[in-house]
Amino acid sequence: MSAKKILHLDSNHQILLQQLADSGFENHEDYTSSKSEVEAKIADYDGIVIRSRFKIDKQFLDCARNLKFIARVGAGLESIDIDYAESKGIELIAAPEGNRNAVGEHSLGMLLSLFNKLNTADREIRAGHWNREKNRGHELDGKTVGIIGYGNMGKSFAKKLRGFDVEVLCYDIQENVSDGNAKQVSLSELQQKADVLSLHIPWTPETDKMVDSAFINAFEKPFWLINTSRGKNVVTDDLVSALESGKILGAGLDVLEYEKLSFENLFDGEMPAAFQYLLQSENVLLSPHIAGWTVESKQRLAQVIVNKIKMLYFGYTIGEMPEKRVTGIGGFFFKAKDPDALKAWYKQHLGIPVDQYGWTFWWKDADGNDCSTQWSPFKEDTTYYEPSTKPFMQNFRVENLDRLLAQLKNEGVTLVGEPESFEYGKFAWILDLEGNKIELWEPFDSAFL
Ligand SMILES: NC(=O)c1ccc[n+]([C@@H]2O[C@H](COP(=O)([O-])OP(=O)(O)OC[C@H]3O[C@@H](n4cnc5c(N)ncnc54)[C@H](O)[C@@H]3O)[C@@H](O)[C@H]2O)c1
Repeated sequence: MSAKKILHLDSNHQILLQQLADSGFENHEDYTSSKSEVEAKIADYDGIVIRSRFKIDKQFLDCARNLKFIARVGAGLESIDIDYAESKGIELIAAPEGNRNAVGEHSLGMLLSLFNKLNTADREIRAGHWNREKNRGHELDGKTVGIIGYGNMGKSFAKKLRGFDVEVLCYDIQENVSDGNAKQVSLSELQQKADVLSLHIPWTPETDKMVDSAFINAFEKPFWLINTSRGKNVVTDDLVSALESGKILGAGLDVLEYEKLSFENLFDGEMPAAFQYLLQSENVLLSPHIAGWTVESKQRLAQVIVNKIKMLYFGYTIGEMPEKRVTGIGGFFFKAKDPDALKAWYKQHLGIPVDQYGWTFWWKDADGNDCSTQWSPFKEDTTYYEPSTKPFMQNFRVENLDRLLAQLKNEGVTLVGEPESFEYGKFAWILDLEGNKIELWEPFDSAFL
């Protein structure tokens, strides 16, 4: 079978080419040809890897007769005609797992810098001015942060806010997205309560120009705005009016309405008046679309893309068998009105010989090792399942807790508290997508024997 050919249209971290070649793919790099030149040869390729060089439209897709996938080394897919590509059976691959941590940290950095006037203070000192009162800052403590769009990036930002005494609210068009780090509310409740608004929505017909004067004025209090999503989510003229009136207290903008699709340059042609206002405004902090653009995310984005391409072709990451993360149920814990009465009931009717903790089931795994699973009713007022509000908690047996925690951290999963070690094994706690707390246990079963 001939090697699958991949056309790389933007340069990326070297591991992308290396690891794909190691897995038997044939890489072709073309970082300069025009869109029509690429269209002339794209029928030869099984896949393309692109950042944002040009739009993948119907015309391009009609030329790409053998394309199995399009991988975008970034989070959003708005530069691709998604419906048309999917109608042709082309797999679309993005890598939000690769840069969400960067976006979370950048959003927090912008917010803290605005609150503490770091940028203006720094500029003034360099110009020879030692202005302390003028640069008196604000504290996040006690404020309410509203996040619109609670997906990869929104969740990452909320996670970064965990160490602050802030209330975090999120609004999303999908239901039940909240987790232990943010409470989902209606848009009007968010507008009523928020002191800070951070946007983490995709650019769609519904979110285009979403933040306009009517939207801003619907906020009850003056607020700070952070935008790391897309420039066109905000009407800059209306943002400027709100900065002038004081309704918006300050803005951290990593993205601008005037950016081109390729996000590469801004300063061609005449500068709009609103942009000139932003450039001169002291309570505006600008960065050139780099929220997701770190040394670490460059490598992580490439790795996520490689993994997803391998997954598409081989079903798992080649070279490694699908790794065992969880090896069994370690415990089933649930709240009960009267745990003692319940234990007696289970003993009487199901023959479970309970002790004060419930019962430990013993079994042997495929290798003949002794393994245990714990069954325990807890008192209803237990705090052990927090921040989850659910009446149950699962415990999973895991093969290697330290390695798994490093992987989960990398994947943006929320960890609860600090891992702990006991004579019967190591423990750590995470939240699943719905905010259910899960206990992870790397067991040392024989400690119970
Ligand atoms: N500045 C950067 O460097 C950078 C880096 C990465 C991502 N981004 C941008 O961040 C944004 C979010 O990316 P993501 O990976 O988190 O996307 P995502 O798809 O994981 O999450 C977006 C969330 O927004 C919600 N949403 C969609 N339309 C909405 C609406 N009208 N109102 C409220 N919620 C809505 C979705 O339901 C989803 O939960 C995108 O615009 C992306 O392009 C920017």
